[in-house]
Amino acid sequence: MVGRDGELGELLAGLDDAMSGRGRLFLLAGDPGIGKSRLADEAAAQARDRGFKVAWGRCWEAGGAPAYWPWVQSLRACVRGLDGEELQAHLGAGAPFVAQIVAEVAEILPDVRPPPPMGAEGGRFRLFDAVATFLRNAGAGQPLMLVLDDLHAVPGCPAGVTGARLIWPWSSGERRCFPSLAWLM
Ligand SMILES: Nc1ncnc2c1ncn2[C@@H]1O[C@H](COP(=O)(O)OP(=O)(O)O)[C@@H](O)[C@H]1O
Ligand SMILES: [Mg+2]
Repeated sequence: MVGRDGELGELLAGLDDAMSGRGRLFLLAGDPGIGKSRLADEAAAQARDRGFKVAWGRCWEAGGAPAYWPWVQSLRACVRGLDGEELQAHLGAGAPFVAQIVAEVAEILPDVRPPPPMGAEGGRFRLFDAVATFLRNAGAGQPLMLVLDDLHAVPGCPAGVTGARLIWPWSSGERRCFPSLAWLM
């Protein structure tokens, strides 16, 4: 990779922070072709070398994707490889909510019941909380790096985000507010 030493250095410092329990959030923004994906690929490769699990989600530009699609993909990558006991421990009481959007949860934990009926806003809040809890617990065992690609394709994306990747190194002890990122979904 040519250049980008400064940007890559910042991302790698973020990995170090995540390893020591302080998760970081990076937004890579710029014109198409400027090198956002390449930079994220390089950071992800180095994260893997440091023992991170890297989970990718890509926004779908052509329409028709299920709700929460980039999160569904990255959560799938986090669920993959866990046995039933580990998955249940990481999900805790949030299992019914995460299972609503990640079908693989019910495959591994067939006894998970649908969540109780509640209003749309309440259900969304419980889902965000369940996902945050899952990521926090999963990150306690192995540090996580989430990469959400092509955010400009998200409906409701703020004006000015013409092309972006969100890189989210995450590890134990981290508490972040998912609802503040609701527009990503
Ligand atoms: N720093 C770099 N050094 C060498 N090639 C690069 C670099 N950054 C990007 N490229 C190449 O340029 C092309 C476009 O980069 P890409 O990361 O896909 O852009 P973006 O994601 O911003 O649209 C790709 O073929 C990529 O491999
Ligand atoms: Mg790209």
